[in-house]
Amino acid sequence: MADNKQIIELYTDLAENPKKNFGWDKGLDNAKAHDYKSEWIEKIPSKVWEYCAAVGNPFKDADIQEGNTVLDLGCGAGVDVLVASIFVGKVGKVYGLDITPKMVELAISHAKLMGVDNVEILEGSFENIDLEDESVDVITSNGAINLTLCKESVFAEIYRVLKPQGKIFFADMIDTSIDEGLCCSMEKSSCCDNVEEDWANCVAGTMRKDELIELIKKSGFINVECTGHTHYTTADTTKGANFKAVKTSSVDKRKLHWDSLYQEPDYTQVLWHQNFPSKSLDLIYKYSSKDKAIIDVG
Ligand SMILES: C[S@@+](CC[C@H](N)C(=O)[O-])C[C@H]1O[C@@H](n2cnc3c(N)ncnc32)[C@H](O)[C@@H]1O
Repeated sequence: MADNKQIIELYTDLAENPKKNFGWDKGLDNAKAHDYKSEWIEKIPSKVWEYCAAVGNPFKDADIQEGNTVLDLGCGAGVDVLVASIFVGKVGKVYGLDITPKMVELAISHAKLMGVDNVEILEGSFENIDLEDESVDVITSNGAINLTLCKESVFAEIYRVLKPQGKIFFADMIDTSIDEGLCCSMEKSSCCDNVEEDWANCVAGTMRKDELIELIKKSGFINVECTGHTHYTTADTTKGANFKAVKTSSVDKRKLHWDSLYQEPDYTQVLWHQNFPSKSLDLIYKYSSKDKAIIDVG
């Protein structure tokens, strides 16, 4: 599999040569093909759109309010950071995070070019996000999460930095090859011809839609949905797709806990089960009378 060095090399090349043919769609036409709104295209300087390597459109489903704090993972040259800055307005805040220093430089200069001062670009990996716990309302990402080997760590970090009931809207490449069956990221890395290049080009690190949804649910998210495929492709076996999910609140967590217990095939096996609730019945007989209502709590 590619390590971060190969990824940084490829995206440095894109940062330095935005017009080069890398074998995948990019640029303004790509953004238009994903239905990026003309309002955003007019507001964001045209130079920025040259770097748009979007594989989908996270803003299609996004619920981002004025004043929100948004974090864009794998922000590249900052297209989606700047789109998010339009949503949150002057009172909101947008962070971009990218591992490629040249992309970070570009994103910073593009924010200056657009004249927005509520944008901050961080250099680093999304496996270790340099932000406080529960500090972000919405996370977006576009064509980046598949590039990491350990997606579990990324979704754990996403969960950590999101506020309770915070949301993630992201587009990513998914594996559409049924032939590869249960091939997970690790296994797939041993069955690709040129794994390092295929990984950095958003091919070898892709997961199947159902695998990815399961992983996101396991990380503590609810309402996890793939909201549709995009036209984007990086190989015969991949397709772009948009996803959304919500971080569980502590109340949701408790509900999930009890719901899952009562879905057990035989919930009479739980520790507190009684075949005959003698203590409760004793109390009810002791205190009940015609003019009293009794509630057996829990
Ligand atoms: C396909 S580009 C997409 C860029 C941008 N989201 C867009 O739509 O134009 C993927 C980006 O993810 C970044 N990236 C890859 N792995 C990363 C990691 N572990 N942490 C942070 N950024 C990463 C790359 O440097 C690159 O800029």
